[in-house]
Amino acid sequence: MIPFAKPIVGDEEIEAVKRVLRSGMLAEGKIARQFEGEFAKYVGTKFATVTSNGTTALSTALEALGLQPGDEVITSPFTFIASANAIAMLGAVPIFVDIKRDTYNIDPDLIEGAITARTKAIMPIHIFGMPADMKRIMEIASKHDLLVIEDACQAHGASIDDKMVGSFGHAGTYSFYATKNMMTGEGGMVTTNDEEMLDRMLSIKNHGRGKQGGYSHFRVGYNSRMLDMVAAIGLEQLKRMPEVVRKRRKTAQMYNNLFSEYDSVRPQVADKGFESGYHLYAPRLHSDKMSRDQMVQTLRNNGVGSRAVYAIPCHKQNTYLDISEWRWAKYINYPDYSKVSLPISEEVGATHFDIPVHPMLTEDEIEYISSAFRKILD
Ligand SMILES: Cc1ncc(COP(=O)(O)O)c(C=O)c1O
Repeated sequence: MIPFAKPIVGDEEIEAVKRVLRSGMLAEGKIARQFEGEFAKYVGTKFATVTSNGTTALSTALEALGLQPGDEVITSPFTFIASANAIAMLGAVPIFVDIKRDTYNIDPDLIEGAITARTKAIMPIHIFGMPADMKRIMEIASKHDLLVIEDACQAHGASIDDKMVGSFGHAGTYSFYATKNMMTGEGGMVTTNDEEMLDRMLSIKNHGRGKQGGYSHFRVGYNSRMLDMVAAIGLEQLKRMPEVVRKRRKTAQMYNNLFSEYDSVRPQVADKGFESGYHLYAPRLHSDKMSRDQMVQTLRNNGVGSRAVYAIPCHKQNTYLDISEWRWAKYINYPDYSKVSLPISEEVGATHFDIPVHPMLTEDEIEYISSAFRKILD
């Protein structure tokens, strides 16, 4: 089976971890500071701060906005559940807005219709690595005085007109989970240009401590720190990024060329100037011959790792269909998510499927996947 995802772990990563282990300084420290500096440079922001994973990157950034229980955050339902849950865990209210069929990202034309007196922020998600329309979103946010957190957890290396995602909003969040474009097993990062926001985040992720550290505490905080061992892997992975992204884009282009011959398979579309990092390659299937689930199974039967990652968009997950157990359910007026209808998200959920695009794919494997498709589709 050609695996769906495969992390790159080289001697460089192994040696980097050994160096940290031998140093005896394992917790977040010097190496994490270096990783933050290099990552901020890569994304083009003034600051970055490491976190324990992408979910804590989101919750740290959202909490630093000063969200109050009942505040609304507009976001996309076509994502990994962690995006919406990071909002809900704070007692804020995820307001799901539908996506565009071709990009799978939040539809800017629908955002203003979802803004209410309680809206505090917009959280676009650069899904599968494809940038959301940040120029439009920032215009809407500034017109309505809203804050913007970019969920770039899947979008390392993605850009709009050569400006990296994660540098448009008030903060950008990244995940370094094992399958991501750059990975540390578990890990996360928040990028920002706002020093006050950075200071709040440093405190939130470190038990509410102040800048001087020690045992004075100024707010209720968490422990969302990253080990230096993990940061050491991140530094090595960051060096690989230009080549990783180049390979992912090349493979995606080959798939795009292949599917341009078949009306039944429609790839995710990049708007002009938008460059996906292709964390995932996920076209939609519109065919009378077979269902999406049959396509996934047929690919697997042919030895090609495939799945449909967000077949159930967030608002259709059991978590949202029944919120009676939620901590804040008695106190906050949530929308009745079971009545929310977002037809495009549901359609893309029902039609997309994912195929391997990771940089460990060999030319032979890509050729094999292409010929498997020709056999299935011709
Ligand atoms: C869009 C998105 N947001 C948030 C997360 C959460 O990241 P993590 O798994 O590192 O907590 C992920 C992880 O897969 C993700 O894909």
